[in-house]
Amino acid sequence: MLSEKDFIPKQYTSFVQTGSFEWSAPSNIALVKYWGKKENQIPANPSVSFTLNNCKTITKLGFEKKENNGSFSFNLLFEGKPKPDFRPKIEKFLQRVEEYLPFLKEYHFTIDTQNTFPHSSGIASSASGMAALAMNFMSLERLLNPDMDDAYFYNKASFLARLGSGSACRSVKGNVVVWGEHKDFEESSNLYGVTFPYVIHDNFKNYQDTILLVDKGEKQVSSTVGHDLMHGHPFAQQRFEQAHDNLSKIKEALVSGDLESFISITESEALTLHSMMMTSMPYFILMKPNTLEIINRVWKFRRETTIPVCFTLDAGANVHVLYPENDKVKVLEFIKNELVAYCQNSQYICDEIGNGAQQIA
Ligand code: PMV
Repeated sequence: MLSEKDFIPKQYTSFVQTGSFEWSAPSNIALVKYWGKKENQIPANPSVSFTLNNCKTITKLGFEKKENNGSFSFNLLFEGKPKPDFRPKIEKFLQRVEEYLPFLKEYHFTIDTQNTFPHSSGIASSASGMAALAMNFMSLERLLNPDMDDAYFYNKASFLARLGSGSACRSVKGNVVVWGEHKDFEESSNLYGVTFPYVIHDNFKNYQDTILLVDKGEKQVSSTVGHDLMHGHPFAQQRFEQAHDNLSKIKEALVSGDLESFISITESEALTLHSMMMTSMPYFILMKPNTLEIINRVWKFRRETTIPVCFTLDAGANVHVLYPENDKVKVLEFIKNELVAYCQNSQYICDEIGNGAQQIA
């Protein structure tokens, strides 16, 4: 397991004047949820997620050596246009990672970024966005230090992404990623995500995630505020222990192909995440009436057809409907006939489990 010190480069052996890279990184959906953190984006409990395939951020990083090394210098484009609103987030990210990427003030950067999913769809782009940016910076660091191996490259990219947005560290790799120290995962770390190290049962091959866009509005509560509310939360300790137990149980289910167990852990985790929000002080509800309508219909459909479809939620009202590839035709028909009516402007996104960040030639 690597420590923070291992991510501070000793010295660079090469020199690079100018160039560019382009990487895509996907979003991810947690099965066992991360909610609550310590300082420096250290998670209060371990989590596990499916990396997605279609919901991605694509970021091109141009770089050019500059004279004055006194401050960060970058242009920021979102879908080809300047995006001043995003600058503070990037500036903060650069400050947080500077210790680990000491070359950052030596270059002027052009960060040109776009998402494959609709803007303000209620899908957080921070995970995919921070992961894509971290990959680009690692590509530049690898030019400065050509001896770097792949394992270090990906672990450090995940480490950097985490400093941007916690769950972003799970978007670097696929298909199932564990983040946070846990007894059943020897290589697991609080500092970066690691690929699920056991063979996953074929039941989960190409597992489907259809994201129902229930509410595309701005988040009522930022995840930063949400995580903070776990400090002094009356049920926090119990919750953190439960996440450890659930991670052990879902590990067994992913390996054995036990869909029943997978479903009960995944749905319970989603509802627990929202229960934590409802029982914090101040308290809040991020589900909408249509979220509950969808959940009830998913349960009814599962009861009537025995098709192993289930739901999970992020910190918002949208519903992720998860199911095996084998049942795709029937579940999509059900979604179109019964669930789309509860989506804002009938919008939903078809996604599936994927491989993580990819460099674009
Ligand atoms: O990465 P953050 O700080 O936005 O936290 C996200 C937390 C959840 O999405 C609610 C759960 C998770 O594990 O992804």
